[in-house]
Amino acid sequence: MEINWELLHDHAKEIMKKAYAPYSKFPVGVAALVNDGRIVSGCNVENASYGLGLCAECGLVSNLVASGGGRLIAAVCVDAKGNFLSPCGRCRQLLFEHGGNDLLFMTPDGPAPMSTLLPWAFGPDDLPK
Ligand code: THU
Repeated sequence: MEINWELLHDHAKEIMKKAYAPYSKFPVGVAALVNDGRIVSGCNVENASYGLGLCAECGLVSNLVASGGGRLIAAVCVDAKGNFLSPCGRCRQLLFEHGGNDLLFMTPDGPAPMSTLLPWAFGPDDLPK
């Protein structure tokens, strides 16, 4: 499937503006292409109980499942300036569940597969069937 990185970047920057980040003042937006052509996105949503804040990727995964599921093909995560942001460790795991090793993530050096971002990941295949 053709990946329109620019479109994904635009979606990530757009949803970043909706972030609720009054504590860190570090808004994050993320957008991803789904294998049926959909684009799903998410922004971070913080909480007065600081440790309960939700990363942007949590919102994306929730939107993915709530809008019909599917596999994530490619993703772009951005900071307030629209610069590519490295997803935190927990979010790599969240995304791995729905995209696996082949999910491509945009980095300042170009697209990188999840297998590079999260090598030897634990995932659904490691659980007994
Ligand atoms: N954040 C994300 O939303 N995604 C990441 O992958 C990195 C960090 C958020 C969490 C918190 O609201 C803010 O960025 C500062 O850490």
